[in-house]
Amino acid sequence: MNYPIEKIRADFPILEQKIRNKPLIYFDNAASCQKPNQVIDCISNFYRQDYANVHRGVHTLSQRASDKYEAVREKLKSFINAANEKEIVFVRGATEAINLVAQTYGRANIKVGDEILITAMEHHANIVPWQMLCQQNGAVLKVAPMDLNGELIYAEFEKLLTDKTKLVAVTHMSNALGSVNPVKKMIAAAHAKNIPVLVDGAQAIPHTKVDVQDLDCDFYVFSGHKLYAPSGIGALYGKQAFLEAMPPYHGGGDMIRTVTFEKSTYAGLPHKFEAGTPSIADTVGFGAAIDYINAIGIEAIAAHEHELLVYATEKAMQIKGLNIIGQAAEKGGILSFTLDRIHPHDIGTMLDSQGIAIRAGHHCAMPVMDFFNVPATARVSFGMYNTKAEVDVLILAVTELIKIFG
Ligand code: ALA
Repeated sequence: MNYPIEKIRADFPILEQKIRNKPLIYFDNAASCQKPNQVIDCISNFYRQDYANVHRGVHTLSQRASDKYEAVREKLKSFINAANEKEIVFVRGATEAINLVAQTYGRANIKVGDEILITAMEHHANIVPWQMLCQQNGAVLKVAPMDLNGELIYAEFEKLLTDKTKLVAVTHMSNALGSVNPVKKMIAAAHAKNIPVLVDGAQAIPHTKVDVQDLDCDFYVFSGHKLYAPSGIGALYGKQAFLEAMPPYHGGGDMIRTVTFEKSTYAGLPHKFEAGTPSIADTVGFGAAIDYINAIGIEAIAAHEHELLVYATEKAMQIKGLNIIGQAAEKGGILSFTLDRIHPHDIGTMLDSQGIAIRAGHHCAMPVMDFFNVPATARVSFGMYNTKAEVDVLILAVTELIKIFG
């Protein structure tokens, strides 16, 4: 079946507009994706017809809202093939999920002198929470290096798995470079030494089929907003045995069984980790986004984006003075680059004047910028609705930029 690009584009109302009198070309999907009508309408209808707090009322609306909310947990369970829905904890996003694991599993199990192993291509969200834990517990953060293509040096990663390593936390796909890590192999190597593994899937999950049982990861974290769902909602997957053994993170309503002034006991999974009124309508919208992706097929989306990446990379390589940052053999739909004499922020501003939205900056991955010795990059990141014609407009705009300012 042909990829239904026209139908998909028609579902995203934001794409219809002009920016600075030019048709909007949205190439900032790694920062956040746009939302289809199906998600927008679902949220709006939920507020119009079904809204109430969840897990708290016997009245019809509360039950309806609770059912819709819990149905999303079931959808996410199937989407990533978790063993059961207790393994899906709703959080605000991948960042909160990593902080949760650091401050519950980490605080309970990682002690003075123990090591946490990450890689050189992590987003700040998979660096800073571990640094905070190291400061609290006296543990040590170790970093597996990458090469100049932005590829993990796997042999070095293996060497860093020692008796001291108590956790591996690794990105599935680099948000700054697009590099995809061989996480299945990394997990197997860590497990051979009884080391649990957390995978930061925020960037990978919109572009690849994720099967947590096949990967055998102990934790997998992701955000809704990069999956065409609202911002402020995401999920932590954890193997049930790990989640059962972990202390709660936030205290408050909905995460308790009993409370007295002397002592509280906690709810079972997954509610133990979900204190307070959650982002209910956004969670329901997350479910609509998963339905939307499933209707197209994540493999079809991945294939479309790969085609765009190959096409854009070939064209970019022909531009003199353009340097691609990140040329790993396995890459998702991200093209980071610099131009010889134009600062990335200026590239971003000048492309905006042509209606093209990209991200220019350090992409919350300052160590990656340091490694490549650049202050920032210009990053083009693809979503399911982008087209080769849009890539052509980008390539022309960059070529013009170089002609005028380079
Ligand atoms: N992590 C997001 C990005 O890569 C915000 O842009």
